[in-house]
Amino acid sequence: MQTHSPATIGIFDSGIGGLTVVREIKRLMPGQPIVYFGDTARTPYGTKSPDIIRRYAVQDTQFLIDQGAEIIVIACHSAASTATAVIEERFSLPVFEVVSPSVMQAVKVTRNKRIGIMGTRATVESRVYDCKIPELMPDATVISQACPLLVPLVEEGWLKRRETRMIVKKYLKPLKDRQVDTLVMGCTHYPLLKEIIKAKAGKRITTVDPSYETALAVRQFLEESGRACTDSPADIGSPAENFQAGREDYFVSDIAPATAEIANRFMGRRIKLVKA
Ligand code: DGL
Repeated sequence: MQTHSPATIGIFDSGIGGLTVVREIKRLMPGQPIVYFGDTARTPYGTKSPDIIRRYAVQDTQFLIDQGAEIIVIACHSAASTATAVIEERFSLPVFEVVSPSVMQAVKVTRNKRIGIMGTRATVESRVYDCKIPELMPDATVISQACPLLVPLVEEGWLKRRETRMIVKKYLKPLKDRQVDTLVMGCTHYPLLKEIIKAKAGKRITTVDPSYETALAVRQFLEESGRACTDSPADIGSPAENFQAGREDYFVSDIAPATAEIANRFMGRRIKLVKA
């Protein structure tokens, strides 16, 4: 039950991948005000060093706070795995990120305690899942696979191509060979490949979608603090009563010719991008 005004959620990613998190947040909380920042001028983060990712993530967070964000969602696995601690230290507002909710869900669903992780090089090299999963399940085995070709394939819109299926199969082989029964799709782009990933993983492997798990965690937090808005904007009442309800601002640091089209694909509908 909402008792206060809905909190404005600030969500950032290295580019437009974080829109998969926004999509889930808007599905669970349609009237929740959100402000998004995609660092399209400096994407990808997944191939950069931890120091640079941390510096960019701090700047992204500051930008969102300047736009009125009251809670932050790090909707980028590469940033979440390397920069969460520094953001929590520098800023005094609630910080959510895509790794922790996925870890909780993976631990919940695994039966044989063998958990596979797909991610960018930055995420895999951070070893964040290798550290966090044993905190909850000390006898778990974590097997990670960097999948650097998948981000460009998604951005190119090769979502159903034979080549994409072959590459996904190749990346999953080492994880299947080591009998994982749970697979974390540890990159914001992978939900767009969910069908292929599920098909190639096979029925015995349960997939975890971090974008959905993160949205659930944010909703739970906002509901507990009375600041969630699960109504649709049209049902909320007069704009004066709920001046922020339904706010959706999408900022990016660069708009290249293909950016809008890719962003619309990620959101599953047209959105208006504004250059920050
Ligand atoms: N958003 C990034 C992630 O989830 C993928 C793109 C990038 O490498 O920046 O890791």
